[in-house]
Amino acid sequence: MKLDLHYNLEQLHVNTLPYAAYFIPKPQQHNTSVTQLSGNWNFGFFNSVAEFEASRHKVTQTLPVPSVWNLHGFDQTQYVNIKYPIPFDPPYVPEDNPCGYYERNFTIDSIYDNDHQFVLNFDGVSSAYYVWINNTFIGYSQVSRIASRFDVTSFVQEGDNTIQVLVVKYSDGTYFEDQDMFRHSGIFRDVYIVERPNNRIEDYTIQTTVDTAVQTGTVHLDVTQVNGKPDYTVALLDQEGGVITEQKGTNEDVLVLNVEDAVFWSAETPYLYTLVITTADEVITEQVGLREVEIKDQQLWINGKSVKLRGANYHDSNPETGYVLTEAQMHEDLTLMKQANFNAIRTAHYPKAPRFYELADEYGFYVMSEADLETHGVVLFYGDENTKDFNIIADDPQYEAPILDRIEASIVPLRNFSSIIMWSLGNESGYGVNIEKAAELAKDLDATRPVHYESAFYAEGGEDFSKLDMISRMYPSPEEIKERYLDNQNITQPFILCEYAHAMGNSPGGLLEYHELLEAYPSFIGAFVWEWCDHAVNISQDEAQPVFRYGGDFGEDLHDGNFCVDGIVSPDRTPHEGYYEFQQVNRPVILSHYDKQTLTFYNRLDFIDANEVLQLRFTITTLSGEQYEEYADLTGFEPHTEISVELQTFIDEAILNQISDILVEYISLKDQTILGHDQIVQERLEFETVTEHEAAYQVSVDDTAHTIHISGENSDYAFDTRTASLTHVTQAGKLVLHEPTAIRIWRAPTDNDINIRKQWEEMGYEHAHTRVYDYSIVESEGGVSIQFQISIVHKRVPKILTGTLTWLVHADGKIEADLELEKNARMPFLPRLGLEFKLSNDYQKLAYYGHGPFSSYDDKQLASHLGYFVSTVNDNFWPHIRPQEDGSHNNTTHVTLNNTTTQVAFNAETPFSFNAKPYSDAQLTTVEHADQLHLDGYTYVNIDVGQSGIGTNSCGPELPERYRMDDAEYHLNFTLQFNTLS
Ligand code: GAL
Repeated sequence: MKLDLHYNLEQLHVNTLPYAAYFIPKPQQHNTSVTQLSGNWNFGFFNSVAEFEASRHKVTQTLPVPSVWNLHGFDQTQYVNIKYPIPFDPPYVPEDNPCGYYERNFTIDSIYDNDHQFVLNFDGVSSAYYVWINNTFIGYSQVSRIASRFDVTSFVQEGDNTIQVLVVKYSDGTYFEDQDMFRHSGIFRDVYIVERPNNRIEDYTIQTTVDTAVQTGTVHLDVTQVNGKPDYTVALLDQEGGVITEQKGTNEDVLVLNVEDAVFWSAETPYLYTLVITTADEVITEQVGLREVEIKDQQLWINGKSVKLRGANYHDSNPETGYVLTEAQMHEDLTLMKQANFNAIRTAHYPKAPRFYELADEYGFYVMSEADLETHGVVLFYGDENTKDFNIIADDPQYEAPILDRIEASIVPLRNFSSIIMWSLGNESGYGVNIEKAAELAKDLDATRPVHYESAFYAEGGEDFSKLDMISRMYPSPEEIKERYLDNQNITQPFILCEYAHAMGNSPGGLLEYHELLEAYPSFIGAFVWEWCDHAVNISQDEAQPVFRYGGDFGEDLHDGNFCVDGIVSPDRTPHEGYYEFQQVNRPVILSHYDKQTLTFYNRLDFIDANEVLQLRFTITTLSGEQYEEYADLTGFEPHTEISVELQTFIDEAILNQISDILVEYISLKDQTILGHDQIVQERLEFETVTEHEAAYQVSVDDTAHTIHISGENSDYAFDTRTASLTHVTQAGKLVLHEPTAIRIWRAPTDNDINIRKQWEEMGYEHAHTRVYDYSIVESEGGVSIQFQISIVHKRVPKILTGTLTWLVHADGKIEADLELEKNARMPFLPRLGLEFKLSNDYQKLAYYGHGPFSSYDDKQLASHLGYFVSTVNDNFWPHIRPQEDGSHNNTTHVTLNNTTTQVAFNAETPFSFNAKPYSDAQLTTVEHADQLHLDGYTYVNIDVGQSGIGTNSCGPELPERYRMDDAEYHLNFTLQFNTLS
């Protein structure tokens, strides 16, 4: 036969069964009716279909199924975002079309009499495939992430059989699967054969309704298709296995099962009833949550409660297995999501394997299940991204059938899962008649769930969400959302952010502003972070030490670099700091107000009393630095109510008058994890480090060496008159600082600095240096002061900053640094501004009183709180997969760094931002991968007025002005001490 189906839009599938609900019945008399075909297959890889056809030796080795062949040494590994990896030439694909030939033996032991059926299931294959059984062609299918089923009854025989599958990398389906991800290929989900008896149920839908007023529910079971004449009983069981109701049905039938004293399903209360459908030969078991979804009054209602979706976009991605997500991986992901207080998942950008939906039902997540459809590449045909070409596929009648096929394939098999609360028609496929029809089809297939789609703007401009149940956008700024949608009286639909807070690298900043709107506006029904996990490939053989690679690292000519490394957890699911930002912003309980000794908390949960899931841990720090810890259970803390706590009921009056801060943490009763916190700071702690008094200082200036020496009894300091640096410090005869200090405005650019970075580089911020014009030395009883008149300059450009740096050597040996600078208003905003100290890297022990334990920037500090934290310099820095700025802590007034003999202490009255890390910004600016960083023997300490915020400009809006370091004047003042440790 000619292998030409994969470039023929008229033949999307050959010999596949109609789409039907996903279920695997259990035979009455046997353990299973399933022949599992996952496992090792014989495999051969070919560079083209022609090469495959010419080959006499089809297989060369074994390959596990499920897997992607790219991560087993075959073919190119490629990451590309928007651009099509092949010429846009539908339905054709390149002649050089990599393909994989799979073959294996299997045994069939029939368990039924002759009138039976064998159904071969493929749950996911990328991108199209031909199937033979016992060397007879049985069919062809495509659409990578949907289940295809073949009736193979007349092809299999009892006993030994073989199955052969040819998978092609590119097909006409490739034009509809242009999602932003690694473009892997292969059989990446399960393959199995299910044997069915003659009298059988083929398809059914389950729908539920609830009556919250009287606490009843109904399960509507509509058996829509049967074979033969099945009689069946249907029983509904509660979680204890008690039968609530039982009914009988025959053939196609509609049964309505009523539940009194119903327990409703929600993400917070994932109570599942069991529906058991029993025929003479089989038992079909379904988990059913009683729930009803509705869009009304511009809000999303679940069981009569207006609900907010706190969501994550969840790709199938694993650093070792690519598209293959094991069940263990799903458990880990869902557990981590729960711990970060997420209640919703968007299956970006395709349906997941059935097991995921079963787990989402059990764990309790509101799922937006998306169709396997993205045609984003059309916007880049003629250069810059634009929407004028976005309808090339969406409006062309020849693509209607493949688009509608994808919608049907993504809804019909999955519509009995309770967790799915809305359908998404796909991602970034433009808008036109085909998508309008897709929306209609989704409604026809399932009238009980709202329909979502984001790119509802026509090529000629203008949004049109009229066929959809909500307005959806990705990455607008909070200001735009407010003005254009939330405050717009002409809009009657709710608003949802299907993507925001692009979590690439050190990210996301600015979450709070989005969440203030989410809380404030009932019509703002939810937001989904982009995205759950970083995509990268682990190329390390050492399990303990992963080495991650991203786009371009595999020699691809077309790639999008590290744009796939944009999750709130690492490829191996180590939470990033961004994960904790979400945990905090999603916390179930918040401190709503505080008045003297009364703390009032609000329960943001919709269905359960907060005290059923968490308790409050109060940590009270007194002004003398003592800490008291108390727990409180707030009994009867009902959803959407407030409760007040009087501190004196459990804390001594004497302590209450001495409070520095109160930290309240919300502790999960289930696993003791911290789900978030609130903090009240009354007065900061002060840190005094005792210093020895110097008798007097001697000041000497060496003009030829450009040095000013200040020496006391115990200490010796040197300053450079050309750079205004403190160049040497000797303390008790020991050299503690042997590298000059420098004023720094550069930070190692974060991924979110991607755009502003160009301006920073243009203005020479990285290599800007200090120019000294003049200096003056003033000696007094209090000490010696040297004031430098300076500017910060770089070749080619005007002065960036102008002002003074004053070093005041106090009589007690302390050095005070005082930096006063005016910024040239025409220069771009600064990454940071402050002084850098280069210590030897034996200064490892770090302690600080500031915002921690996470890196904290003015727009990315939700997870942190004010506290005294002890760490090490190495641990303070997180090497992002592409290295960048990390480890700064704002709102700090005290930092110490110790080696075994000496302590360097920084103190200030006005809080500063600091960083202490083992790598220079210069190294972090250039190195492309974390594993390529090298320790150069130094500890780099920066004491900054501040840093610009983090934002999400790698894909989101520009950094808001209020977070930019763009003031007219800056002032930094702190002291520096060198203490000998006994
Ligand atoms: C969106 C897209 C996502 C991803 C993201 C950037 O436009 O829907 O799939 O590409 O941008 O990481």
